[in-house]
Amino acid sequence: MTDLTLGQSPVHAALDFFDDQHPPAGDFLRDVLTGLAATPKSIPPVYFYDAAGSALFDQITGLPEYYVTRTELALLDRIGPELADLAGPGAVVIEPGSGSSVKIRKLLDALDSPAGYVGLDISGEHLIAACEELARDYPDLHTGAICADFTTGLSLDHLPLPQGRRILFFPGSTIGNFEPDAARDVLAGFRQGMRAGDAILIGADRVKSPATLEAAYDDAQGVTAAFNLNLVDRINAELKGTLDPSQLKHVSVWNADKSRIEMHLEALEPQKFEVGGQAFSLARGERIHTENSHKFTPESFQTLARSAGFDVLRSWSDPAELFSLHWLEPNAKA
Ligand code: AVJ
Repeated sequence: MTDLTLGQSPVHAALDFFDDQHPPAGDFLRDVLTGLAATPKSIPPVYFYDAAGSALFDQITGLPEYYVTRTELALLDRIGPELADLAGPGAVVIEPGSGSSVKIRKLLDALDSPAGYVGLDISGEHLIAACEELARDYPDLHTGAICADFTTGLSLDHLPLPQGRRILFFPGSTIGNFEPDAARDVLAGFRQGMRAGDAILIGADRVKSPATLEAAYDDAQGVTAAFNLNLVDRINAELKGTLDPSQLKHVSVWNADKSRIEMHLEALEPQKFEVGGQAFSLARGERIHTENSHKFTPESFQTLARSAGFDVLRSWSDPAELFSLHWLEPNAKA
């Protein structure tokens, strides 16, 4: 079920390969109807990222309250020489959920003559454009793209990859979006496609004061609120929705028991609405849960990594201990 286009294809001429693994398209209508029928109501965060949502997320990464992106970027700069030592020459970098072209460039620039780069994403268009741009800027790098869903594991065996140890790059604390069992499954899925000597470089946001966390997810300019409310616009536009966004308030709360920031949409007034022809209602104060962003301590991250079959070989944090990068290698046990 894979459809491999090698480099000479005129469509993706800059790439050495494009492998379309045909990930099943997420079913927005079905997922929203299921989430709204549940108690409490919820909508999966994957649906934030249409064109408008992705542009809002880009804006979030530059906000004063959202320390995540700039802290990780500075950390990558600082530890570059150590990463080069750990990876050695000729590494092949694989980026599941590739998105940030800035971070991957920092990593590639830090490494000692990397041999290859493979971007992997569920949506093909943006992925191909980003990988082609990278291929043009790094002409010596063997560069490919895979359209696939990284939450179902990595299938790499059939690909024309250079020899060399593979480094999976999973920055941004994307792992924090998954509930603990699912986070373990994602990492265990990565491990299945890895060989002895391969490694993961992964970003994980740290537990810190609730005030700092809540502000990072509820900024003064209201960009995160707009990002959250963009879901409502999508539902109304794409699913024949009649939700009233002016009666919904963006909420960011720290859940200490589950060590996570939660985002919700809270009804200011009772409202009846429809989605896809089905009727729903919200009571005053009722919430639709739209995102979890789990935060880790060094210990809780190590527990997660071990449960997925990895040893944490090295961890780095910024001086204020806001964010961490970890270097994981598959442990000896099968
Ligand atoms: C892209 C999942 C890492 O959880 O910090 C940012 C998403 N949501 N502000 C995060 C997000 C609201 C972000 N991740």
